[in-house]
Amino acid sequence: MSLKVLTVCLGNICRSPAAQGILQAKAAAKGLDIVLDSAGTAAYHLGKKPDTRSIAELRKRNIDISGQQARQIVQQDFNEFDWLLVMDKSNLKNVQAICPPEQQHKVRLFASFALNSSMQNDEVEDPYYGGDEGFAIMADHLEALADGFLETIL
Ligand code: 4NP
Repeated sequence: MSLKVLTVCLGNICRSPAAQGILQAKAAAKGLDIVLDSAGTAAYHLGKKPDTRSIAELRKRNIDISGQQARQIVQQDFNEFDWLLVMDKSNLKNVQAICPPEQQHKVRLFASFALNSSMQNDEVEDPYYGGDEGFAIMADHLEALADGFLETIL
């Protein structure tokens, strides 16, 4: 059975779709059987494609996330997924608050998988209100964390 991973942010249009795309690409390159999806804690952008700036930044890295559609996290996700990887501490608090006690171990700050232990408490900062450069920084950070995650679970 495949490992199932859900990436989670606030709006599900900037960070978690990018994290999904990057993890998917890296897992495929390593021949790993991982099923990915993403969700937001909020319902602001239901059904929308990722932010055009996330799509553009990932396209530069040969990853196409334009087919994704925003959705909100639901209770079933806690049964369905092996890992729920959240981008920041506010996401962590919000997801932990709705997660059944027996599934809490699945919910982790994505940065907790950073290979550099001094970076394991970091947040993947929300680039939504900033400029394009924030999306490049986000994608660099997500690439490093995806490497850390895949190395850790292998
Ligand atoms: P995301 O970024 O959580 O990385 O998708 C955001 C997208 C939209 C909003 C906030 C953060 N918003 O307030 O609409």
